[in-house]
Amino acid sequence: MTHIEFYRHNISEQDIKNIAKVLKGIFLSTGKNVADFENSFAGYLGCKYAVGTTSCTASMHLALEAFGVGLGDEVITTPLTFVATSNAILHTGADPVFVDVEEETGNINADLIERAITKKTKAILPVHLYGQMADMKKIRKIADKHKLKVIEDAAHCMEGARDGARVGQLSDAACFSFYATKNITCGEGGAISLNNEKTASLLKKTRLHGLEQSAYERYEKKFTHSDMAFYGWKYNMNNIQASLLAGQLSRIEKLWRRREEICKRYTKAFQNVPGINLPKTLDGVKHARHLFTIWVDSGKRSQIREELQKRGVANVVNYWPAVHLMTYYRKRYGYKPGDFPVAEAISEKTITLPFYPKLTNKEVDFIIANVLDVIKL
Ligand SMILES: Cc1ncc(COP(=O)(O)O)c(C=O)c1O
Repeated sequence: MTHIEFYRHNISEQDIKNIAKVLKGIFLSTGKNVADFENSFAGYLGCKYAVGTTSCTASMHLALEAFGVGLGDEVITTPLTFVATSNAILHTGADPVFVDVEEETGNINADLIERAITKKTKAILPVHLYGQMADMKKIRKIADKHKLKVIEDAAHCMEGARDGARVGQLSDAACFSFYATKNITCGEGGAISLNNEKTASLLKKTRLHGLEQSAYERYEKKFTHSDMAFYGWKYNMNNIQASLLAGQLSRIEKLWRRREEICKRYTKAFQNVPGINLPKTLDGVKHARHLFTIWVDSGKRSQIREELQKRGVANVVNYWPAVHLMTYYRKRYGYKPGDFPVAEAISEKTITLPFYPKLTNKEVDFIIANVLDVIKL
């Protein structure tokens, strides 16, 4: 029986050779492979610096801390995201302040941000949901007016652009994920991109306990004792992760083009089908095409998902419940259903379909046929 996995990575024989080379060498932790990957990644994004970390969560935590966000501060974000986004805010001691999302895209509604700003607000942390950039031009303008930092959760959006600006170009820092199902992956990993040299240099220290020198620097040069000038964490990317990412990064646009083709095939089949709505790709957007979601009748979502699974089409939900309705957030902040109605409505009706370059057209057509069949139930 056909079984289509939700995700299959795109690691090649050459990528495996690259890892083997690191494993046969001496230095497994943060070293030259990481520095080389950071340079290539910054080059790809069109920004000055990239800092390799262990995850997007760690990246957001580090970036918020680097901009001085801490206890008693507030950071504005979206409730329609993975818990990592708001958890990273909690890691700093600050409180997340949620703002509802746009009906058409599921991205934070920039028109609602200003009314959520208080004296405690320090930063805005938009998420580029599914791979479509939030309205960064508007968000940057609001941030400048209120002297706030902008940190992008770009876990879905390495390849994205909007209104002529790439991801990372209108913010103070952008944070990326190389988690197992991301567009390029090393199982677990992350990065921060930014244009400020001083902050980049600080982040390279705070990702490793705040130490002045990494083990590699001590290994390469003559051994010296390393002072700890800053408070830091253990969030450094290692050479094994970097070596696995390097090859995928060189193919990133090719991989994106294949997802774009699959997206076109899905969109053609699903648009104008009763019972299916698709998030809108706005004019002026280069969508990174990370997740392909359909929005179905909320009352039938579970039945549709389970039936698809039975027929061999793996699928997941991004995201349910909306973060403010997770038990911890309800208990800590007293949130209740109805607080962010648009995010809640999307979270009730969304289904994410398999969407990766290795899918064959035959598999895509199998998924389409089953979705069209099941939606009639
Ligand atoms: C929107 C979003 N933000 C953050 C993360 C966290 O990424 P990581 O697992 O690299 O910390 C994810 C991961 O799935 C995500 O989808």
